[in-house]
Amino acid sequence: MNKELDFVKEMFDRIAPRYDFLNRLLSLRQDTVWRNQMVRAVSPEKNSRVLDVACGTCDVSLEISSHLSGNTRTVGLDFSFGMLRLGQQKLVKKKNKSIALLNADALDLPFKPAMFNAVCIAFGIRNIMDRQRACKAFFDVLESRGRLAVLELTTPEKGVFRSLYLLYFQKILPLIGSFFSNDNNAYSYLPDSVLKFPSPIEFSKLMQKAGFKNICFKQMTFGIVTLFIGQKP
Ligand SMILES: C[S@@+](CC[C@H](N)C(=O)[O-])C[C@H]1O[C@@H](n2cnc3c(N)ncnc32)[C@H](O)[C@@H]1O
Repeated sequence: MNKELDFVKEMFDRIAPRYDFLNRLLSLRQDTVWRNQMVRAVSPEKNSRVLDVACGTCDVSLEISSHLSGNTRTVGLDFSFGMLRLGQQKLVKKKNKSIALLNADALDLPFKPAMFNAVCIAFGIRNIMDRQRACKAFFDVLESRGRLAVLELTTPEKGVFRSLYLLYFQKILPLIGSFFSNDNNAYSYLPDSVLKFPSPIEFSKLMQKAGFKNICFKQMTFGIVTLFIGQKP
């Protein structure tokens, strides 16, 4: 693994125990609404196979499970053992047997081509430097007509809300995050990485280059989160 990957992996290993709590607190519980919107948009059918890349503590995988009946199987994949351990505990608590967890790198997916009907990635793509390669890897494991859903934190484009948001995001959020997580780096890395993430139009072009068609995006909560959807032809 290279230095950047190690940095991200170790950071998530460290903050895993406080991750869910801080997500709910810092987003005022909007994170649950955003994941719900993503799963609805992919609308996997009964008996689908869904891949949740960068699954972390399994909130997306569990959201998929709660929407679906039948023999739908979800694979949650993440390279942080710390995050997966927390996710596994949630699955056991909820007696969920439809989700399998895998410790692997999103850039090196251990699956045969066209194995999944849908691929989701929530708040994960921003941490992957080679996003083009990641999108291509997601494309390869999707079957024809399968959908990719990418949910990511983005920066509101203009107006007073942008200024207020940047104040909260760059000054207040890192203080709250480091206080509760005891980790000074992680919650400074968060705004830095979001500000470096491409605009929705640029990221849509990247999905297009990876081969996706019918790409659309929806900005939510004044543009602080964007949901991208693409389909494999
Ligand atoms: C912000 S968390 C998102 C977790 C979850 N999807 C959610 O909605 O809460 C980002 C996750 O991406 C994982 N991650 C980052 N880069 C990765 C990579 N290259 N391969 C696998 N997992 C990765 C991290 O370990 C972390 O669990």
